[in-house]
Amino acid sequence: MDQTSIEAYILSHMDEEGELLSGLCRDANVNLLRPRMLSGHLQGRILKMFCRMLAPRRVLEIGTYTAYATLCMAEGLADDALIHTVEINDEMEDFIQKYLSCSPDREKIKVHFGDAMELIPTFDELFDLVFIDADKRLYSDYYDLVFPKVRKGGLILADNTLWDGKVLEKPMASDKQTIGILEFNEKIKNDRRVEKVILPLRDGLTMIWKK
Ligand SMILES: C[S@@+](CC[C@H](N)C(=O)[O-])C[C@H]1O[C@@H](n2cnc3c(N)ncnc32)[C@H](O)[C@@H]1O
Repeated sequence: MDQTSIEAYILSHMDEEGELLSGLCRDANVNLLRPRMLSGHLQGRILKMFCRMLAPRRVLEIGTYTAYATLCMAEGLADDALIHTVEINDEMEDFIQKYLSCSPDREKIKVHFGDAMELIPTFDELFDLVFIDADKRLYSDYYDLVFPKVRKGGLILADNTLWDGKVLEKPMASDKQTIGILEFNEKIKNDRRVEKVILPLRDGLTMIWKK
């Protein structure tokens, strides 16, 4: 099966991403260094669908980048729900604000600039949904830090957990990102406090449900 054609078929038979997000993607592809980091059409609609199904009141995203995924999740949230999203690179602020200011969901989004490792302990919230999508070397640390702040029955999503298939190879000692993902996947596998499934979506999306 031709994966590119199948993906094109899927995208043409599901909800569109809309003008704001397709404009954001074009802008990112022209003006940003690593546009592939943003979630994109398919994963974005899935994140929105998760929010529709779970109806979370409090969401945490670790790794905002362009706010593409943030905007997708916000679309699926109730009017009085809130997403805290954390981004270490404050050079993204103008880009993020350009799109948030045009979104009807902007009131549901609070962007925090800084290191998630420092900011997560300062959040006085119990989260219903967490999306981990920042530094792959730190996935286990983000998980440990955020776990007490996730309510029982809450869901943690972790992106890129198949890491372009590199999880199947023995990593070089210098490849800290692959090592970080491998450690995280082992940690989740052995964590009896949660139920977990890896979706083979895009680069791997792990769903972790807190018992
Ligand atoms: C893959 S991108 C996020 C993509 C976005 N979640 C989406 O799906 O559209 C990862 C982002 O995490 C940020 N990041 C890396 N380490 C971080 C940290 N310790 N705290 C907060 N953000 C971090 C990077 O600057 C980058 O913008």
